[in-house]
Amino acid sequence: MNDATQMQTAYERLGGEVGVQALARRFYDIMDSTPAYLELREMHAPDLAQVRVDFMGFLSVWLGGPRDWIERRGTFCLMSRHAGMGITKETADLWLAAMRQAMDGLVADEVLKEQMDNAFVRLAKAMALRGDAL
Ligand code: HEM
Repeated sequence: MNDATQMQTAYERLGGEVGVQALARRFYDIMDSTPAYLELREMHAPDLAQVRVDFMGFLSVWLGGPRDWIERRGTFCLMSRHAGMGITKETADLWLAAMRQAMDGLVADEVLKEQMDNAFVRLAKAMALRGDAL
């Protein structure tokens, strides 16, 4: 990693708006078309159009990019939003597997991919724990 890499935000390293859009699109395309992810797919609305837009907006903010989405939303708590969905270890693992598949072949920066995966694992685990408690 050189100095220039350290100065960049994760959003920039992912390729900015184009990269974030591509990741969100690929993630839901994979979830929608892979039979192994059916249980996860069925937790979502039949039409994925809204969650595609929201996930893209969230990723932009989360990765240090433009904050338009959160400014439109006002406040947003990722954990509260996922509470009560009944997320189990199994559905959290499906989400992580679909996301890994989406990142593979798209995110060329291996360090970034690992950092994002680690962060997704922490979030997904916390969501599953909370799901179990409800
Ligand atoms: C752990 C497994 C997860 C499951 C089972 C899950 C499931 C869901 C479901 C069912 C929705 C509602 C969308 C719809 O009804 O179509 C949703 C929304 C969303 N999820 Fe997840 N999710 C998971 C993990 C994550 C993670 C790790 C992130 C962030 C990195 C995330 C970000 C979002 C965002 C931003 C929305 C849109 C919320 C909104 O705009 O109100 N999810 N998720």
